[in-house]
Amino acid sequence: MHNKRQITKDLCWIGTNDRRLALFENVYPIPTGVSFNSYLMTDEKTVLFDTVDKCMSHQFFDNLECALAGRKLDYVIVNHMEPDHSATLPDLLLRYPDVKIVGNAKTFMLMKQFFQKDMEQNLVTVKDGDTLNTGRHTLKFIFAPMVHWPEVMVTYDETDGTLFSADAFGGFGALNGNIFTDEIDFDESNWENMRRYYTNIVGKYGMSVMSLLNKASSLKINQICPLHGMIWRKNIDLLIEKYKKWASYEPEEKGVTIVYGSIYGNTENAAEILAGMLAEKGIRNIQMFDVSAVHPSYILSSCFRYSHIVLAANTYNAGMFVNMETFMHCLAAHSLKNRNISIIENGSWAPMSGRKIKEILDSMKDIKTIGELVTITSSIKDTEFKKIEQLASDIVSDIQV
Ligand code: FEO
Repeated sequence: MHNKRQITKDLCWIGTNDRRLALFENVYPIPTGVSFNSYLMTDEKTVLFDTVDKCMSHQFFDNLECALAGRKLDYVIVNHMEPDHSATLPDLLLRYPDVKIVGNAKTFMLMKQFFQKDMEQNLVTVKDGDTLNTGRHTLKFIFAPMVHWPEVMVTYDETDGTLFSADAFGGFGALNGNIFTDEIDFDESNWENMRRYYTNIVGKYGMSVMSLLNKASSLKINQICPLHGMIWRKNIDLLIEKYKKWASYEPEEKGVTIVYGSIYGNTENAAEILAGMLAEKGIRNIQMFDVSAVHPSYILSSCFRYSHIVLAANTYNAGMFVNMETFMHCLAAHSLKNRNISIIENGSWAPMSGRKIKEILDSMKDIKTIGELVTITSSIKDTEFKKIEQLASDIVSDIQV
């Protein structure tokens, strides 16, 4: 049975929610699920904005059929060719063989790579800034390359001020009936769903996001309809401000993320002692993560949020602890910049983890090291305790600058 919600007079949400999928992109845990958003505009022409993941296509087609109410489908706009939004297109064509598929040259290059089916006669190629009039509405296509993939574009409905924003402004978390942010008490857990989505999926492409934000700054936006997560029709300025920070790699707030890898608890002990000292000195909202217990996506999100990071790891196979190594590659791969970082290493006979962590940090931009490298030989004794005390003072002084 269909499930849809009205957004404006001519527009409704006909997406789907997945609360069974364990890993988004087979990588990221999604304990609160994820939505695949699709929208239908019923103007003089009918226009579908993207489709959903193939595993949810049954529900999607029920929704679409109901929303069309017996009309034919004139257009489908493909803002993003990633399969979680486009893999249902060949099935859509079987049901609506005359539908015009609107995309750009790169969209169609990818389409031909993904699908064997010949869709040539259905394709309508648009360029950056082109418009499509559908009756009462005029849709403008704005290219947003590398706001995840190279073919990405967003579509702006000039008539109602709706921005179909593709991956931009998206978030993890299934929609629980409430599809608008103003229908819930939007709290830190909701921001975290957006932050973890942004940092892990789009975080690497900050410059591309900034370029989209610049293009969008001249638009009068009444609602933002992303491909995942909630629809924004209130507090849009607040959302854009948050995005500007994320895209420019500016910390949201001063604070410390402590990330540690520990086998027998001694490096963990150092991290705990440091956290306590920082708290004693007035640092609030310290975040601590055991790299062996928490998926890197959560830790990365915290590192984007706060100004300071402490990396503490034991030595392992003459390098750094394996799970810390995984996390460090995640940090570097997402191009995090402009952070102040301190290092604690542990090693019983040949401490190496500090050097290995530093090597990766050296490959990143605008990273400032705070304090001396703290080296622990096996466990914390008085000497190491004093070094941690000094490190805590150095971090606090730097935060208070
Ligand atoms: Fe769910 Fe890059 O898309």
